[in-house]
Amino acid sequence: MTQKSIYVTEPSMPPLEDFIPYLQKIWESKILTNGGPFHQQLEAALCRYLGVSHISLFANATIALVTALQTLRITGEVITTPYSFVATAHSLLWNGIKPVFVDISPDTLNIDPERIESAITPQTTAILPVHCYGHPCDVVSIQKIADIYNLKVIYDAAHAFGVHTELGSILNHGDLSVLSFHATKVFNTFEGGAIICQDAKIKQRIDNLKNFGIVSQVQVVAPGINGKMSEINAAFGMLQLNGIDSALSRRRMLDAAYREELNGVTGIRCLKDSGETVANYSYFPILVGPEYSLKRDELFDKFTENGIHTRRYFYPLITEFPMYRSLASAAHSNLPVAIKAANEVLCLPIYPDLHLNTLETIVGIIKETL
Ligand SMILES: Cc1ncc(COP(=O)(O)O)c(C=O)c1O
Repeated sequence: MTQKSIYVTEPSMPPLEDFIPYLQKIWESKILTNGGPFHQQLEAALCRYLGVSHISLFANATIALVTALQTLRITGEVITTPYSFVATAHSLLWNGIKPVFVDISPDTLNIDPERIESAITPQTTAILPVHCYGHPCDVVSIQKIADIYNLKVIYDAAHAFGVHTELGSILNHGDLSVLSFHATKVFNTFEGGAIICQDAKIKQRIDNLKNFGIVSQVQVVAPGINGKMSEINAAFGMLQLNGIDSALSRRRMLDAAYREELNGVTGIRCLKDSGETVANYSYFPILVGPEYSLKRDELFDKFTENGIHTRRYFYPLITEFPMYRSLASAAHSNLPVAIKAANEVLCLPIYPDLHLNTLETIVGIIKETL
């Protein structure tokens, strides 16, 4: 039994005293929200850091997803993945859109482009893929299908902060990408999120929609929501950016240590990169196959008994929940790869302050049963 409970993640936090000067500025300006100075600074700083041209900050990624769909006036049916956090599909229901679930690729656990075409109907207007665990989707194949059928593509990039491929930032693909800055994410503002878009006019529409649809003091053009990020969250984001590179390099080191330690362990598969040239190591999923001596849930319980709280992301699949399970595309026969992954996956703890000896304890528990 380890001394203290270990969780799948722990938020990166700068020293509290470093945040005080930021708070003092907010108290002096008395600007608390509505696109204040920190909000503007963080948008500009994130554009530079991420290598994107336009970003609009949000209170969280779920509201950002809901707004992204409204920005492009998406209706009817949208093709998406069952292997994600429920917010992905919930954003469709919040817009009265029917999700159509498509199975994932066994190697990346991202939506399988080869299965998208057969799910398209005359009602399909968009594709909503997820860069699961920060591993890039096959953006080129997805865009080809979207171009042929004149569909929009909105990426749920909640896990993909800072990820690049040889084509540049992964966030520049599709029509819009949505990031999450939730406490559990690589870059956190306590709660927070953002939409990345390619042109200034679209950014203006997003900014209006996240502020009740208000365009001027006398004009409201859409039933927008209140999705604005507050000045406290934006100020914290500015401070967090100072530490992001060292947080990412610490994650890289831990990811490499896990891979080395788990290499050759019978029945345990570590998910590989999917073409990223800059990765973010946001999760460390392993797949516990039938050749391993314990079932996935037995290993999960064994970790829990030892005070190590791993997570079965993403089990159950979104398609198992009552608001989705009666859809034809939620049928088990449609999703064999996703069902297998959901039954085998276990996310191990990874975060900048995780000690190497804790990582060795975690790996030791996996190897103990061999
Ligand atoms: C894939 C995915 N999409 C959306 C979200 C929702 O993000 P938020 O918690 O910022 O609303 C999450 C997060 O936790 C997620 O993992």
